[in-house]
Amino acid sequence: MTQTLTITRPDDWHLHLRDGEMLTGILPETTRHFGRAIIMPNLVPPVVTSTDAAAYRDRIMAAMPEGASFTPLMTLYLTENTDPEDVARAHADGLISAVKLYPAGATTNSASGVTNFDNVRGVLEKMAEIGLPLCVHGEVTSADIDIFDREAVFIDRVLDPIRRATPGLRVVMEHITTADGVAYARSQGDDLGATITTHHLIINRNHILVGGIKPHYYCLPVAKRESHRLALLEAATSGDSRFFLGTDSAPHIDPLKENACGCAGCFTATNTMSCLAEVFETASALDKLEAFASLNGPAFYGLNPNADTITLTKGDPVTYPEKIETGAGPVTVFDPGFPLHWRVD
Ligand code: DOR
Ligand code: ZN
Repeated sequence: MTQTLTITRPDDWHLHLRDGEMLTGILPETTRHFGRAIIMPNLVPPVVTSTDAAAYRDRIMAAMPEGASFTPLMTLYLTENTDPEDVARAHADGLISAVKLYPAGATTNSASGVTNFDNVRGVLEKMAEIGLPLCVHGEVTSADIDIFDREAVFIDRVLDPIRRATPGLRVVMEHITTADGVAYARSQGDDLGATITTHHLIINRNHILVGGIKPHYYCLPVAKRESHRLALLEAATSGDSRFFLGTDSAPHIDPLKENACGCAGCFTATNTMSCLAEVFETASALDKLEAFASLNGPAFYGLNPNADTITLTKGDPVTYPEKIETGAGPVTVFDPGFPLHWRVD
């Protein structure tokens, strides 16, 4: 008997679409299955003002594949010079859905991020007042903190103090990778959410390092030890409304990944729904996939779930292209390391 699963069309609450030929090449990989996505603003130069966000949204719409019905939810990149009034206007106009905080130097194109958190106090207070979520890349950047500890230290030293100082601020802990992140999210109220990526549900740090270095598994925050992956899996499959899908699908062309100083990012847009169905089925939690991928995210952002559905069918292993050939160059698709039996019809 064929097994099928019909769920509300999913959204991606953390996505890198880039620009130019890369944007054109990879956009169909997301619009094929997803209804909406929170679009990360870490372009070069970053999307800092409402004018930048409107122009970027226009470029995304211009690259939209024929027949796609996909809504990009725009964000602004928080800098120490961000004007609270510009943020408030962009929110009131329906142009932006969130503001993204990158600690300066934490990841790809984060040089314009925040060093002194006192300098963004006014923006954060305005956001709390108007109910606009702050999406946080939660890693400290000090050289003396081990890269595997950077998320846990960020929670204590930066995230919790910011939230205490700004009551009412709605915060999304982006791409959590640790049991510490899960525990913190669980300990808080419904003004805190957390996204979890597809790849962090599948790989731990051994996948990156054992038997030779695997650049396509390197991302930031870097995958941690297996006990952390299991904590993420438990959170994602629990149905708890604070946890939702943000793939952090982050394309880089192969020459920049397979490099002596390789870029951070896993490209999962193409096969995410097949990967997730496999992971949730293995965890005996297929019934929780819809909450994680399609319901909890819109609830946090105060939006309705998508009105249509997708159907996944289980059968012989599905194959996806190993690479997406874009005008900017080839982008390797995430390899989960196990066969995928669920195809999206
Ligand atoms: O692995 C990552 N890649 N993590 C990030 O935070 C940024 C992203 C990118 O833009 O490539
Ligand atoms: Zn990201």
